[in-house]
Amino acid sequence: MTASSNYLIAGNWKMNGLKHSLGELDAMAKGVKAGSANGASADMIVCVPASLLTLAVERCANTPVEIGGQDCHANASGAHTGDISAEMIADTGAKWVITGHSERRTDHGESDSEVKAKSEAAQRAGIVPIICIGETGEEREQGRTLDVLEGQLEGSLTNDGDFVVAYEPVWAIGTGLVPTLDDIEAAHRFIREYLENRYPGSGSDVRILYGGSVKPGNAAEILGIDNVNGALVGGASLKADDFLGIWRAAPS
Ligand code: 13P
Repeated sequence: MTASSNYLIAGNWKMNGLKHSLGELDAMAKGVKAGSANGASADMIVCVPASLLTLAVERCANTPVEIGGQDCHANASGAHTGDISAEMIADTGAKWVITGHSERRTDHGESDSEVKAKSEAAQRAGIVPIICIGETGEEREQGRTLDVLEGQLEGSLTNDGDFVVAYEPVWAIGTGLVPTLDDIEAAHRFIREYLENRYPGSGSDVRILYGGSVKPGNAAEILGIDNVNGALVGGASLKADDFLGIWRAAPS
């Protein structure tokens, strides 16, 4: 399992973005280049809709920003109308893919074992899966958060290879609600301990991202929490100014 010690700030554009949105990517790449020259060290990636993958990769060539997809099929090719394989994403030059986002788990009924198969497919194609887990509001109220996370980790993570984990409490996505810093710390500590137990020697190096209503205004305190190694950002990744504000908040 390879891992970087850099913070990872990942954007998820979800089903947003047309060709003209690529101007935001240009501004992000420019901002990261300038910030890096001033000592900032976080990595930035943007996961765009499938329609923009090729163009986004072209626009970010020779810049520090890398591109990812938002989902992939477990198979390399075949009769799966409307789906995209990890090999196709890799073919565009993209380097990452989100798997198991709660919107896919909810909208498309994806199970942990499907998420695992998709994540293995990504590794087979040479791209890195960002594997998402997170409890619903109801599960949290029932005090089941850590049990739910453990089940998702057990079922969704690949047995080896490179991956990133993203902890996104479902109730915090797009709502402006954020867990307390103590709650984020507890969840990330739990995930870290799980990783260290399951992957002796490498589990301590896996990057664990927090996602759910991360904004420029709360990024520094969230990214300052132990075992938070980056952020997965939805709404605030659509505008370069906001996303760069989050990127700059990463400790260097
Ligand atoms: P928001 O940042 O809009 O809450 O979305 C988080 C998310 O789902 C990223 O994958």
